[in-house]
Amino acid sequence: MKQEQKALLSWYSLNSRDLPWRKTKDPYKIWISEIMLQQTRAAAVIPYYNKFIKKFPTVGVLAKAKIESVLEMWSGLGYYSRARNIHKAAQALDKSGFPKTYQELLEYVGFGPYTARAVASFAFGQSAAVLDGNVIRVLSRLRGQRLAWWTTKGRNELQSLADEMVEDTDSAPINQAMMEVGATICLPQNPNCLLCPFQKNCVARKQGTQSTLPLKKDKKKNEIW
Ligand code: ADE
Repeated sequence: MKQEQKALLSWYSLNSRDLPWRKTKDPYKIWISEIMLQQTRAAAVIPYYNKFIKKFPTVGVLAKAKIESVLEMWSGLGYYSRARNIHKAAQALDKSGFPKTYQELLEYVGFGPYTARAVASFAFGQSAAVLDGNVIRVLSRLRGQRLAWWTTKGRNELQSLADEMVEDTDSAPINQAMMEVGATICLPQNPNCLLCPFQKNCVARKQGTQSTLPLKKDKKKNEIW
């Protein structure tokens, strides 16, 4: 294992938050948690996750539920289209069973690259690196890369950097740890570099460019009106 991976994993073993979806390998529960986590912070997700899983403990129960009761359990989280997609995908997954690779998971409604990779890595142990806003920030700073993460090219380059990070080791704890660094240390403003497992390797820290990375999407350029 590379020194960087070791440093990250030993930091994570001491600093991981105790979150309910980290205690399961059930692809259904991991999937639900990852959709909820795309909408709000982990601490805010916990009560929604616990209530949802209590009401719909398996993909089969969710598949057979009325859409109204699914929307009711989603109420407060926003983005109701996600709840509708979850319900639809549950019906397909209940028939087919969960496929074990992210490539196959991508075929289901509501599964984008992030969700498909998260489920394949956490539930099935596939070697797959996840890329969310937190990971994009950590990698842009760690490698000192000014990448346009909102373009296909920039996204692909970031995905390669993320893939490198999980090489030759179990991707699940690396993925969790990268997100944890992003959520608790490598903050958008005032990152806690002194507590960071990457402090020796971080290019942005060496250059003092933490506050300029990742690049900001220029809203004006993309505005149509
Ligand atoms: N954000 C997205 N996925 C997460 C996870 N599994 N744990 C904590 N925060 C997350």
